[in-house]
Amino acid sequence: MTRGAVVVLALLLMISSTTFVRCEPQVPCYFVFGDSLSDPGNNNDLNTKAKANYPPYGIDFPGGVATGRFSNGRNFVDRITELLGFDEYIPPYSTAKGRQILKGVNYASGAAGIRSETGQHLGDRISMDQQLVNHGLTVAKIPWYGFTALRNLGKCLYTVNIGNNDYINNYFNSNYSSSSIYYPEEYAQALISKYGLQLKSLYLLGARKIAVFGVGLVGCTLGEIYTFGPSEGSLCVDKINEAVKIFNEKLINLVDDLTMELPGAQFTYIGASSSTDTGSAVANTTCCKVRDDFQCVEFDTVCEGRDNYIFWDGYHPTEVVNILSGESAYSGINSKYIHPVDIKTLVSCDREFMLRKVKDRISTRLSSA
Ligand SMILES: *[C@@H]1O[C@H](CO)[C@@H](O)[C@H](O)[C@H]1NC(C)=O
Ligand SMILES: *[C@@H]1O[C@H](CO)[C@@H](O)[C@H](O)[C@H]1NC(C)=O
Repeated sequence: MTRGAVVVLALLLMISSTTFVRCEPQVPCYFVFGDSLSDPGNNNDLNTKAKANYPPYGIDFPGGVATGRFSNGRNFVDRITELLGFDEYIPPYSTAKGRQILKGVNYASGAAGIRSETGQHLGDRISMDQQLVNHGLTVAKIPWYGFTALRNLGKCLYTVNIGNNDYINNYFNSNYSSSSIYYPEEYAQALISKYGLQLKSLYLLGARKIAVFGVGLVGCTLGEIYTFGPSEGSLCVDKINEAVKIFNEKLINLVDDLTMELPGAQFTYIGASSSTDTGSAVANTTCCKVRDDFQCVEFDTVCEGRDNYIFWDGYHPTEVVNILSGESAYSGINSKYIHPVDIKTLVSCDREFMLRKVKDRISTRLSSA
């Protein structure tokens, strides 16, 4: 090649690379921990009933593929990923390779819990402890990609949504003895103690901006309502929601304490808004026909007008609900569920800003006590 041709080629490369530049994501990477609400397919090759890699799951996902997400389409993590400006979804740990890990990894696993035994009657799952071990393996590879990649770990977003199964597939399931050992208050405290250690390990692996999701109103899921029957004068199983409420109140305090205690840490709590708030949508029927474990029957037909339904299967929301959850976590649309900041603020503001908010909260907590 002549020298002139090289110059022209270099110019063309420059032009084409500027033409294809896209909007930079707001964070260099996004790491995800959690249960089926966040799982993008990590259970697909595990021996468990808790997997969703068959139709009709994924019927509304791009390409209509059953990726292993427990919904008809995207989950709330996918929506947060889009809002952060990433042009691809965060890959599951089970398939993430090479440089992909620099943009983040999703470790979430259906049926997983804070407690390691949670969900075991359904088969294999990746508990929160194991998800952290897996993240440790990822972090150990990062230095190969240079100092910037390593330093980025403290700038990335981390979300953790775990605890639902410690109620559904442990405390309120007769295959487990926890409810005969602990009162709800004690069980919540035992979970919180363990969760606190897990969140500290995440911090020790370099995480600084961490959004922690509360447990949802699992007593209002159709799976639990079909299992226990609604409480008198209620649409939901009230004893389950009451137990979960104790956990969430403790979790808000844990999150404040961790921000105060750990140098450089920014934790925020995001509560699940009540899906029964959602107006006139169909909340008393699942969209797919369900098996006895309340997951969709394989290859069966599904409802029309899926955007009008709350529940996809017996436990998991439809895509339209997931999109709303992702958007309200990101922009705090429903701010009464968020302490102290939404994800948009978490990724853009410094620790001083959050500390001020946490101190305000703690002083009102003390003065009202
Ligand atoms: C307990 O576990 C067995 C399988 O190990 C399952 O068949 C049964 O439905 C479970 N019970 C409940 C209440 O989930
Ligand atoms: C669900 O609620 C609607 C309207 O309230 C009612 O017409 C329908 O029969 C209910 N379906 C079930 C399965 O309970």
